[in-house]
Amino acid sequence: MNAVPTTKPVTRQGGDPAFFSVYDLHAYYGESYIVQGVSFNIREGEILALLGRNGAGKTSTLRALARMDDPELKHGEIWLDHKPLHTMKAWQAARLGLQLVPEDRRIIPGMTVQQNLELAQISEPLGWSIQRIYELFPRLGERAEQEAITLSGGEQQMLAIGRALARDIKLLLLDEPYEGLAPVIVQEIEKTLQNVKKLGITTIIVEQNAIAALKLADRAIIMDSGQIVFDGTAQAVLDDAELRDQYLAI
Ligand SMILES: Nc1ncnc2c1ncn2[C@@H]1O[C@H](COP(=O)(O)OP(=O)(O)OP(=O)(O)O)[C@@H](O)[C@H]1O
Ligand SMILES: [Mg+2]
Repeated sequence: MNAVPTTKPVTRQGGDPAFFSVYDLHAYYGESYIVQGVSFNIREGEILALLGRNGAGKTSTLRALARMDDPELKHGEIWLDHKPLHTMKAWQAARLGLQLVPEDRRIIPGMTVQQNLELAQISEPLGWSIQRIYELFPRLGERAEQEAITLSGGEQQMLAIGRALARDIKLLLLDEPYEGLAPVIVQEIEKTLQNVKKLGITTIIVEQNAIAALKLADRAIIMDSGQIVFDGTAQAVLDDAELRDQYLAI
């Protein structure tokens, strides 16, 4: 961080400070200025859809929130449950409960399903037991001894989510969980995410399949050219064909 943060975390009008609040993020890949002043709040237990066209800056925003080295966060504040993530490295943010499930799912080759889950539990603080993860995803339990890289795309997505739950989780970031999956598998992952929603896990979901994300989400923000151009309810986006046409091309 080059800039020293001076402002206080964002608060909702008349409400408590948000569980997760992001204030005026600016992030760069080298000289490329990508995330251009992003601010938003999420209440505990809320599901937020982060939408926008290809190249809008969605993945870059998630990576900045997760405190990855790239893009570099040069200004802004990120508060999770009153902890300043903007002062932290990725591993520290993960330790505080921010879990990013990246688009490529990062399944570890040469390891079984069970070993992938065990690896997530190699250090404290732990989340769900592996047994409980198998109860949520029976398919993973059936394939516990199978090499994880041989799982279907949908099963790999379940494993990636399961691995996040194996950690002590406060905020789940999902980058395109439906990417590359057949419609019938998308429906299956949708059911899984509905179950995750029932557990009350605060979640940000980035999806090209905006309708599917909006069905799951309580709120939506839309990004365009690195900036937020809409922040409102998911229903408001579903109801506004003009807005969807302008920024989502659906
Ligand atoms: N490693 C990188 N180095 C330089 N520029 C990058 C890098 N990764 C992404 N970008 C640029 O940043 C911008 C935002 O990309 P980003 O991947 O965040 O978009 P996105 O909204 O996730 O798009 P998509 O829907 O295609 O996944 C794009 O112009 C992209 O070319
Ligand atoms: Mg992306």
